[in-house]
Amino acid sequence: MKLLLRIFGMLLTLVFIFSATRNEHPFYVPKHWPLPSYDFEANPISLDKFELGRSLFYDPDLSRDSTISCANCHLQYSGFTHIDHALSHGIDGKIGTRNSPVLINLAWQNSFHWDGGVSSLNKQAINPLTHAKEMDNTLHEVLRRLNNSTFYRKRFYQAFGESTITTDLLLKALSNFTIGLVSAASKYDHVKNHHAKFTEQESAGYSLFKKYCASCHQEPLFTKHEFKSNGLPINPKLNDYGRMEITNRSEDSLLFKIPTLRNIEFSFPYMHDGRFKQLKDVLAHYSQLHVSNIPKSAELKKLNRTLSDHEQKDLIAFLKTLSDPTFLFNPLFKYPQNERNASFENK
Ligand code: HEC
Ligand code: HEC
Repeated sequence: MKLLLRIFGMLLTLVFIFSATRNEHPFYVPKHWPLPSYDFEANPISLDKFELGRSLFYDPDLSRDSTISCANCHLQYSGFTHIDHALSHGIDGKIGTRNSPVLINLAWQNSFHWDGGVSSLNKQAINPLTHAKEMDNTLHEVLRRLNNSTFYRKRFYQAFGESTITTDLLLKALSNFTIGLVSAASKYDHVKNHHAKFTEQESAGYSLFKKYCASCHQEPLFTKHEFKSNGLPINPKLNDYGRMEITNRSEDSLLFKIPTLRNIEFSFPYMHDGRFKQLKDVLAHYSQLHVSNIPKSAELKKLNRTLSDHEQKDLIAFLKTLSDPTFLFNPLFKYPQNERNASFENK
C-alpha cells in the first residue's frame, strides 16, 4: 500500500511537471546570468502569445505580396539569421544594406539593429514589415488581413482576450516569440555548470579569448551591448557609418553593435555587411589588426601582436563550444507545421 501511494505520488509529480512545462513560455533566466532588460510588465509573456508570435513570424502573408516572412531572413538553423547572402534579401529579390543579425537572447539587449537605431524590441517589427526592401507592406494592410482572418482573430482572442487586432497587439505577439529565443545550453554552458570539460585545444582558445576578446564579447552573453569598432575598414560599396548615422556624432563613426558570439559556428557570413564567409577569415582579421592603421576601440589595443595559426585554430575551437543544438533544433521554435493552411483565408 505504501509503495502504491509512493508510485501514485511520483506520477502526480510527473503530471504536474509535464503540464507545467507544456504550458510555460520558453523564456527563462539561466543560472548566474544577469537580469534581462526587457520590460516584462509592459508585455507579460504566455505560451499562447508565444505560439501566436511564432505563427506570425513564419507567415509570408504579412508581406505585401505574401512571399516573405520574418523567417526568410531569420532561419532557426543558423541562430535566426540568413546564411545564403552577405546582405539581407527581401521582397522582389531586393538586396538590403546589412547582414541580418542573429536573434538570440534578445531579452538582455536594450537596443536593436547594427547601429542601435531601434530602442525597443516591441517596436522593432514595424521596420521589416514596412521596409521597401524587406516585406514592403503597410501596417494598415497587415491589420486588415489579420482582422479578416478567423484563424488569427481566434488566436488573438485566446492570447490577449481581444479579437480586434491592433498594431500594439501584433507587435506584442511578435516580441513574445522573439523573447523566448534563449540560448544557454552550449558546451561552454555545460562546462560552466561543471557537467562537461573543455578539450585541451578549447581551453587554450578560452584563455586567449578571455585575454583578447571578452572585454567586448563579455560572458555569459558574449556581448556587453555597446557600440565599438573592431578595426574593419569601411565598405566602399555601402558607405555605412554605423552608430554615427543615428547619433550624428563623429566619435560614433564606424561603430557597430558588438554581436553575441553564441552559435557563431552556424551564423555565417560575419559582420554587419557579411564580408567574411568563415570564422578563419574573422580570425585572420583580428590577427593582423596591430599592423593596420584603421581606428579601433581601446579594448583591442591589448591585441598588439600577430596570433599564430595555432592560436587562431584554438580560438575557433573555443568559439565552436558556443554552439547550442537545443536552441538550433528546438521544436518549439520551428515552423508550426500543423498550421500550414491556416493563415489569412480572406485577403
Ligand atoms: C529581408 C530580410 C529581413 C526580414 C524579412 C526581416 N528581417 Fe529582421 N532584420 C534584418 C536585418 C538586415 C536586420 C538588421 C537591420 C539593421 O541593422 O539596420 C534585422 C534586425 C532584426 C532584429 C534586431 C536584432 C538585433 O540584435 O539588433 C529583430 C528583433 C528582427 N530583425 C526581427 C524581425 C521580425 C520579427 C521580422 C518579421 C516581422 C523580421 N525581422 C523580418 C533582415 C530581415
Ligand atoms: C573592441 C571590442 C571588440 C573586441 C575586443 C573583439 N571584438 Fe569581435 N566584434 C566587435 C564588433 C563591434 C563586431 C561587429 C563589427 C561589424 O560588424 O562591423 C565584432 C564581430 C565579431 C565577429 C562576427 C560576429 C557576427 O555575428 O557577425 C566575431 C566572430 C568576432 N567578433 C570574434 C572576436 C574574437 C575572436 C575576438 C578576440 C580575438 C574579438 N572578436 C574581439 C567588437 C570586438
